[in-house]
Amino acid sequence: MRVLSGIQPTGNLHLGNYLGAIRNWVKMQDEMDAESQCFFFLADMHSITVHEGREQRIRNVRDMAAALVAAGIDPDRSVLFNQARVPAHAELCWLLNGTARIGWLNRMTQFKDKAGKDREGASVGLFVYPVLQAADILLYQATHVPVGEDQKQHLELCRDIATKFNTDFSADVFTLPAPIIPKESARIMSLRDGTAKMSKSDPSDLSRINLTDDDDAIMAKVKKAKSDQDMLPETAEGLAGRPEAGNLVGILATMTGRTTDAVCAEFAGKGFGAFKPVLGEVLVETLRPIRQRFLELRTEDAALDAILDKGAAKAATAAEPTLRAAYDAMGLMR
Ligand code: ADP
Ligand code: TRP
Repeated sequence: MRVLSGIQPTGNLHLGNYLGAIRNWVKMQDEMDAESQCFFFLADMHSITVHEGREQRIRNVRDMAAALVAAGIDPDRSVLFNQARVPAHAELCWLLNGTARIGWLNRMTQFKDKAGKDREGASVGLFVYPVLQAADILLYQATHVPVGEDQKQHLELCRDIATKFNTDFSADVFTLPAPIIPKESARIMSLRDGTAKMSKSDPSDLSRINLTDDDDAIMAKVKKAKSDQDMLPETAEGLAGRPEAGNLVGILATMTGRTTDAVCAEFAGKGFGAFKPVLGEVLVETLRPIRQRFLELRTEDAALDAILDKGAAKAATAAEPTLRAAYDAMGLMR
């Protein structure tokens, strides 16, 4: 088993990233056997699709590294690095640009969302973003890629690129990866709108719980979260058509490792006035130690850089055979 996943080092981690992605990375890392390996990286090469000044970009990479370590990624057991330190990503991306089709990329909903109405004004980098993502995954022969629901389409594209490359060059260069999407927390929704996903790009800070929020801020956001006037139902079925209620119940279920049915059974007949303090307390207690470790680690730049350097060296070694095989299959002599 080769587990690999990445996250863009832009802005702070929020509860959606934590429950939808990072927590599962940590779980997979902790359940690894001796033959398996985990690769987790900061997609800083992807982050060039978001304009950022030099100093801020440097800070973002270190902050995200600190956040991952604080959340439980152990750089001694997992390979933790940033993409820019491993040039093989950019190289393989270029090779795969010969295989990926414009028609395939045109169907990517993330590009459509991020480009918005001004498609002609979007960067080429934003358009080919999923090809770099495919390179990230295929370089390491990853078998399992834990991501949130929104990345499913990029994983399918990655498999299409791998299949076409292997077929076109009659070579078995790439392994087809499987997405690992958590059932319970694949989509954590905004606290202000149960139909929009919790995201760092939402202009309202009340819409999300950030890893940097202190105890009071977390509790205040939960109390202000949009809910409804109805009582909680006996089973999860009763949450149908109640997106905000469903989201809050779902968050508590995920945080406490229970089903939404079990959470409904506990609160059946009670209102959100009773539910929210319980949810707030669970969030405060779970996130506090992560936040505290994060705030300490993020002041240790030299230690963070050392972690990323070491990870990059391991990653480059692991990537080399596949990169060489891809050049060779195409008849490009290095
Ligand atoms: P954002 O949407 O805030 O910009 P990213 O796109 O950087 O976050 O996502 C990083 C990881 O977190 C991805 O694996 C993504 O699927 C996951 N993720 C992001 N938002 C959510 C959410 N609201 N619920 C579940 N997972 C999420
Ligand atoms: N595109 C992913 C996101 O927005 C981040 C990412 C880049 C990634 N490369 C990856 C995720 C490779 C999984 C595997 O969240």
